[in-house]
Amino acid sequence: MEWIGENDSIETWQEVSLVYNAAMRQVRTKMEILNEEFQHVHQYNPIEHIKSRIKTPESIVKKLRRHGLDSTIENMVNYVNDIAGVRIICSFTSDIFMLADMIEHQQDIKVIGIKDYITYPKSSGYKSYHMIVTVPVYLSDRMVETKVEIQIRTVAMDFWASLEHKIHYKFEGDAPEHIKQELVDCAHLVSDLDEKMLQLNEEILEFSRKLEEQNG
Ligand code: GTP
Ligand code: MG
Repeated sequence: MEWIGENDSIETWQEVSLVYNAAMRQVRTKMEILNEEFQHVHQYNPIEHIKSRIKTPESIVKKLRRHGLDSTIENMVNYVNDIAGVRIICSFTSDIFMLADMIEHQQDIKVIGIKDYITYPKSSGYKSYHMIVTVPVYLSDRMVETKVEIQIRTVAMDFWASLEHKIHYKFEGDAPEHIKQELVDCAHLVSDLDEKMLQLNEEILEFSRKLEEQNG
């Protein structure tokens, strides 16, 4: 038996689908476990909910074409980083960095790329923390290191991104200038809201801590 993690170890679309599905479920489960353990130890859930999806073949082919690449399995595996996607929605911005840190420290997850659109939002106003990771998927005769795109964002950022995505799609990427501007304004409101909610939460936590101290 040969244990290889080479990219050419995926040969058919069925295999792509199987392997990326497995990788996506592994990451999802890992996140659910982290969340449960956190609840157990800290009486607190950093994750509000998780969404996951596999990119449709049509969408993969479209992306390859956009990059001037032929629709081969090899190109999919090498150049499309978001065939498997897991989106983690949390309450507070502080949760995002804590979760990212916990992901980085998992030994069987390899982080191969990070885009921090929280610290550096896109000009559209988009905020989110992106990680491209690989996880090992064990098949009957080999292991395949498989890429998964993880997006971590707050509920408010997710709300904004969903609306912006819908608008982007409606106008085929060419929304009127005033709508784009309104979206940028909304993104600032979202950031302000996230900051206020975080401060409020910290105050509540501090209050609970003091109360506990007083009660011995
Ligand atoms: P894609 O080719 O679109 O996947 O982008 P990329 O490979 O340059 O990576 P990037 O990290 O910029 O974006 C990856 C994903 O983040 C996208 O597929 C979207 O899901 C999301 N995203 C990035 N920018 C925006 C944005 O301006 N608005 C919204 N709604 N989502 C975005
Ligand atoms: Mg994408």
